[in-house]
Amino acid sequence: MTLRPEKLRCEYLKNPLGIDVDNPRLSWLLEGDGRNRQQSAFRIVVARRLEALRSPDRYLWDSGQVKSDRSLDIRYQGPPLENFERVWWSVCSWDESGNEAWSRPAFWEAGIRDRQDWVSDWITGPVASSGGVPAPGREHSSEDIGWLRTAIGSGPVQYLRKQFRIDRPVRRARAYATARGLYQLLLNGESVDNRSFAPGWTDYHQRIEYQAYDIGDQLREGANVLNVLLAEGWYAGYVGFTPRSRGAHYGNRPYFLALIVLEFDDGETAMIASDSSWTATLGPIVYSDLLMGEHYDARREIPLWHTEDYDDANDYPVHTHGDRGATLVSERAEAIRVVDELRPKSLAKRSAGSYVFDFGQNIVGRVRLQLEGAAGQSLTIRHGEALHEDGSLYIENLRSAKAEDVYVFKGDGVETYEPTFTYHGFRYVELSGLDSTPDLSTLTARVLSSATSRTGEFHCSSPLVNQLYSNILWSQRGNFISIPTDCPQRDERLGWLGDAQIFAATAMFNHDVAAFFTKWMYDVEDAQLPDGAFTDIAPLILFDNGGSPGWAEAGIIIPWTMYLYYGDHAVIERHWDAMTAWMDYVARHDPDFIRGHGLNLNFGDWLSIEADTPKSLIATAYYAYSAQLLSRMARAIGRSSEEKQYAKLNSNISEAFVAAYVTNDGTVAGKTQTGYLLALAFDLLPESLRSKAAAHLVADIEAHDGRLSTGFLGTKLLAPILSQYGYSNVAFQLLLSEKFPSWGYCIKHGATTIWERWDSWTPDDGFQVTMNSFNHYSLGSIGEWLYGYLGGIRPDIDNPGFKHIIIAPQIEGGIDSCDTAFRSRYGGIRVAWENSGEGITLTAIIPPNSSATVELPLLPGDAITESGQPVNTTTGGIQRVERSNSRIDIGLGSGNYLFRISKAGPASR
Ligand code: BGC
Repeated sequence: MTLRPEKLRCEYLKNPLGIDVDNPRLSWLLEGDGRNRQQSAFRIVVARRLEALRSPDRYLWDSGQVKSDRSLDIRYQGPPLENFERVWWSVCSWDESGNEAWSRPAFWEAGIRDRQDWVSDWITGPVASSGGVPAPGREHSSEDIGWLRTAIGSGPVQYLRKQFRIDRPVRRARAYATARGLYQLLLNGESVDNRSFAPGWTDYHQRIEYQAYDIGDQLREGANVLNVLLAEGWYAGYVGFTPRSRGAHYGNRPYFLALIVLEFDDGETAMIASDSSWTATLGPIVYSDLLMGEHYDARREIPLWHTEDYDDANDYPVHTHGDRGATLVSERAEAIRVVDELRPKSLAKRSAGSYVFDFGQNIVGRVRLQLEGAAGQSLTIRHGEALHEDGSLYIENLRSAKAEDVYVFKGDGVETYEPTFTYHGFRYVELSGLDSTPDLSTLTARVLSSATSRTGEFHCSSPLVNQLYSNILWSQRGNFISIPTDCPQRDERLGWLGDAQIFAATAMFNHDVAAFFTKWMYDVEDAQLPDGAFTDIAPLILFDNGGSPGWAEAGIIIPWTMYLYYGDHAVIERHWDAMTAWMDYVARHDPDFIRGHGLNLNFGDWLSIEADTPKSLIATAYYAYSAQLLSRMARAIGRSSEEKQYAKLNSNISEAFVAAYVTNDGTVAGKTQTGYLLALAFDLLPESLRSKAAAHLVADIEAHDGRLSTGFLGTKLLAPILSQYGYSNVAFQLLLSEKFPSWGYCIKHGATTIWERWDSWTPDDGFQVTMNSFNHYSLGSIGEWLYGYLGGIRPDIDNPGFKHIIIAPQIEGGIDSCDTAFRSRYGGIRVAWENSGEGITLTAIIPPNSSATVELPLLPGDAITESGQPVNTTTGGIQRVERSNSRIDIGLGSGNYLFRISKAGPASR
C-alpha cells in the first residue's frame, strides 16, 4: 500500500558512469495502487559506499526530510565528486498518509572533470607525406599508400593497439574514450560496449563527448590487449551536400583519445593513456564512410591482433597530438545501438548473380550478410528506399551518397559480415557478385537508432491511422541518430532545426528523448552565431548564415517543449542567454515588430502545396510566439521582470501582426491554411477574430476539396488547431483521407515511413526529381495530435511534465476506439475509449503523484457513471466535477477509472 520510489535517474540517465556536472539532478517515480496517491515528503541520502547508505553518520549528503511532492530534478547538494568517484544514493518517500518507503539504491559516477586530467594524447596512424609513410624497419609498400587515400577519397580505417599487463586483482576498471572521428574499442577481442558511431556528432571544434565504460569483467590478470578501430565519420568523412562537404569538415584525419583507470584491491590506481606507446596498422576495413559505405576485405584480417601473441614488429608508431582545443564533456545521451532486426520478406533475381531483397519496411541501419564465397570473390551491397517499375533500385534520391558496401571473401566456410562505421536508409537491398543462389536467410537488416526508450503506445480502430502511427515511429527511429537528422539516406543527414522543432512534441510522446534533446540543445547553442542568430542546422557545417523563420526558433521552442513534456527547468536556465541573444538579434533587425530583415534562407512554409503563405507573416508570427514562450519560461524560472518584458513584446508584435496582416473579418493575408494556423496557434488575434479566422481556415480546406495545403510549419499546427476551435470533424476528415495530398495518400502508395513531400511520388509524375526522401519525420508532426487529441493525453502548461494531465479525447465518427499510453516521468498514463454510437466508455489511468482533468462530451440528458457509480466528489479519487451544456470536466487524483456515458438523444457524435 505504500508508495515505492522506483526508476531512479541522474540527469535523465540510469546509473550513469560519467557525470561531470557538480550538482546533478536526481529523479524517481512512485509506484503503488489505489487512488489519490501523493508523495507528501522525500529524503535523499548519498554515500560513498553502498553499505554506508545504512549508516547516517557516513552520508556524503542527506537532504533531510523535505515536505514536498517533488520527485523530479532535485539537485544533489553535497560536496563535488572527485574524478572517477562513484556515489550511491537512495530516496525515501512518504505517501499521503505519512507511510514511508525507501528505494533500492542507485549510483552515479563522476567522469573526468578537468581537461588537465586527461593525461593522454590524441593519437592517429602515421601521418602520410606525399611519398608514402615512413615506417621504421620496413620498406614502403603499396599498403603504405593506403594511409593516404582510398577509392572513395577518404583515409583508411586505422587499427590501433596497446598491450599491458595486470599483476594484481582489480577492484574497479573504467575506460574513458573518444575520437575526432568514430571509434570502436575492444578489450581482449570483445567490444567494450555494443554501440555504434561513438562518440556521436557534436561540433568537434568546440565540444567532444567522451564515453565511460565499465571494463572490469573483460580484464584479466596477465596480458591484456586494447584494440581500436578508428574511422573518419562526421569528423573527416562525407557529410552533407555541398562541394565543401567532400570530406574534412573538422579535420582531415581521425584521432583517438583514451584513459583507462584501474583501481586495485589494495587501493592503488594505475592509468593507461593513449600515447606514443600505441601502434597502428591497416586491416580488413579498407575504408568506411557514413554516406559512401564500407569496403571490407576479409583477406586482410589481422591474425592474433587481439591476443598477446601478435607480433607488432611491422606496425607503425602512432602519431600523437597534444591539442586540447575542444572541451571534453561526458556523454549526455543514449548510445546509438542496433535496436531491432528484420528478415527480408521476399527476394527477386535481377540478373546473373544479382538479387534484390525487400525488407517490407523502410529502415535505417545496415545488413548482416551470411554467405560462403571463394577467396577474393567480391560482393556489392547497394541500398534503396524504393524500386523503379522494372524492379531496379531507385537510388537517384541518394544524390552523391553511394550507400554501397563491398565485401571480399576470405574463402573460409560461411562468412558473416556487417559494416561497422556506416549506415544507410533503405527498404530494398541489391546484392551482386554472387555465384550461388541466396535465400531469405542470407541477409538480416540491423536497425540502428539512438537507443532512447519507447514511451508511447497508440492503437485505434482505423488500420490507416495505425499505419500512419507506425510510419511516424519508424521515421523517428531512423533519424534520431546522435542528432535529429532530416533524412537518413541522401547526402544530407543534417540536424535541421525546423524539422526538429515541429516534430519535438511527437518525438517526446514516442520515446524518452529528454537526454537526447539535452545533448542536442548544446549543439544548437554551439552553432549560434556571434550576432545571436540561431542557425538552420546544428551542428553547424556548410552554412555561414543565421537561421530561417521557423527553423532558428527551435532554439526557443525545444527548451519550451522539454519544459512542457518533462518539467525540465534546467534546460531553460542553461540556454536562457542564448535564447535572449536570439531575441535581441531579431529586435535589432526589426525594431518595429514586423519581421522583414535578417530572415536568412527564409524557407517559408517549406514544401506546402498550392499555397504561398507570406514569408514575413510567418517570420513575424514566430517572433511573437518566441516572445510568448520566453515570457512563460521566464516565469517558470522566476525571472519576473523578463516575464513582463517578453509579455509586453509579445503583445506589441501581436498588435503589429494584426495591423499588418489581418482584416476585421478575420481574414489573414495570403488566405492560406498556414496563415490562419499561425495566427490562431500563436495567439496573435484578438478574441473577437479567432472564431472567424478558424471559420476561414475550414472554408479554405473545403475550397481545396477537403484537402490540406500546409507544408512543414503549417502541418504541425493543423489538426490541433482544428480541434481547439471545435472542428475535430475536419481534422478526422484530413486524417482519414486518401486523396492527394494527405498522409493516407502516401500510405495508399506504400509508405512505411513519413515522406519528405506530399508529392514524393505521384501517378502522373512518378518520383520527384531532386530532393526526395522517403524517410523524413517532419510531416509526421501529426503524431502529437494522435496522442494528444485522438488519444486524449495532453500536458498542462501550468503543471508541466504531466504533473497534471489533460485528458480530452476527440471522439468523432470514423474511428470507434482508441487506446493510447504514455510513460511520463511520473509513471504510466493510459486513456482508452470506445464509442459504440449508443454510448462511450473511457478507461483512464493516472500515475501516483500526478492528477488529471478529464473532459468529455456530455449533452443534456446523457448519463455518466464511473465504475458504475454516479460521478461526484464523494467517489474516491474524483476531486471536482463541472458540467456545462455540452461537456463535463472531472478532476481526478491518481488511480484507474472507468467512465461510461449513455447517450440520451439520437447519435450525434
Ligand atoms: C531538408 C529539410 C530542411 C530543408 C530546409 C532540406 O534539404 O531535408 O528537411 O528543413 O532543407 O528548407
